[in-house]
Amino acid sequence: MTILVTGGAGFIGSNFIHDWLSQTNEPVVNLDKLTYAGNIENLSSLSDDERYTFASGDIGDAELVRKLLFEHKPRAILNFAAESHVDRSIHGPEDFIETNIVGTFRLLETVRSYWDSLEDVDRDAFRFLHISTDEVYGTLAPDAAAFTEKHRYEPNSPYSASKASSDHLVRAYHHTYGLPVLTTNCSNNYGPFQFPEKLIPLMIHNALAGKPLPVYGDGQQIRDWLYVSDHCSAIRRVLEAGKVGEVYNIGGLNEKANLDIVNTICDLLEELTPDSQFSRSEKNPEGYKGLITFVTDRPGHDRRYAINAEKINSELDWQPSETFESGIRKTVEWYLNNQEWVQHIVSGEYRDWVTKQYA
Ligand code: NAD
Ligand code: TYD
Repeated sequence: MTILVTGGAGFIGSNFIHDWLSQTNEPVVNLDKLTYAGNIENLSSLSDDERYTFASGDIGDAELVRKLLFEHKPRAILNFAAESHVDRSIHGPEDFIETNIVGTFRLLETVRSYWDSLEDVDRDAFRFLHISTDEVYGTLAPDAAAFTEKHRYEPNSPYSASKASSDHLVRAYHHTYGLPVLTTNCSNNYGPFQFPEKLIPLMIHNALAGKPLPVYGDGQQIRDWLYVSDHCSAIRRVLEAGKVGEVYNIGGLNEKANLDIVNTICDLLEELTPDSQFSRSEKNPEGYKGLITFVTDRPGHDRRYAINAEKINSELDWQPSETFESGIRKTVEWYLNNQEWVQHIVSGEYRDWVTKQYA
């Protein structure tokens, strides 16, 4: 048996592949286009592992995907591949439409013809698991109940609209063609290998360099943070036991305001890097927190996301194993111990992005 992961060189996909191969011997084929967010260095420790195969390419390239499917005969496809950063989707939505909508559509078409060709037993056992986001549900008022799977779709950014569209296509391929699909909608992830354009790694990276920590608006926007290995265990569980055609929300029960996250990161850095020139001292009494800078808010910024994870908890017996306190400590330590990894990616394209976004 084999699984095909798309977008496995990105943040969550690479964590998933490491997690998968530490839990099972079932081989993984990783199809990734290696955009700016894809980094094969995330998987360099697997370069001699016979269970792991890398294929460079686009989920929308039907010929390539067909070749991979008929060669490796995967029993499941896990679709992580996407353009994933809201701010980039505001500056340039087209890549989001191309990969998240058109790419997912083309992938579904190719997978459908492969699935049609399978013998009955393999057809029944086959799964297409689509990894999506809680952002498709839109924004919540401070006192509103957390998102359930029945919450209506109200995406507000080009990113979330493109993910919502892909979720609808996945749903339609089940209802129309019978493709055995599963969809997961997860809250904000954090942990190792996250590209430092997202809130948590960006703040760690900037703080260590003594650069401003740019908090959008009043910093009171709320996200429900999940440590990435908990997302990986939830995906494994949904693949193993999820009911075909169903949607599962995944969340960490960790609603936090952005400013609180940034303050927590500063506190951890004070503790873990007391000798840094940017940490608290007589000459610099504010330490890292003195770098916090309030900047213009993101257009259309969603105020609050919160996940009701009751369904996956009661039906599939899944729950997160990290608290926010344990997860954020592991994450800050990982970035401190992997500065070489950070240095390799914060060149060229990354610098251009930072200049454009925070000008
Ligand atoms: P990421 O941006 O770190 O990685 C995306 C990966 O997809 C990269 O390796 C990139 O090279 C690859 N890719 C992009 N376009 C491709 C294409 N056309 N064909 C093949 N590969 C392509 O993203 P991530 O944070 O790891 O997110 C993975 C998935 O999880 C996405 O679908 C995202 O919507 C979803 N998600 C992310 C979060 C989060 O907090 N990061 C939360 C919930 C859901
Ligand atoms: P982000 O990590 O981009 O994830 P998402 O937009 O998908 O939730 O942002 C998380 C939150 O942090 C979001 O409310 C925007 C905010 N944010 C900042 O305040 N400053 C920043 O520099 C970034 C990148 C994000």
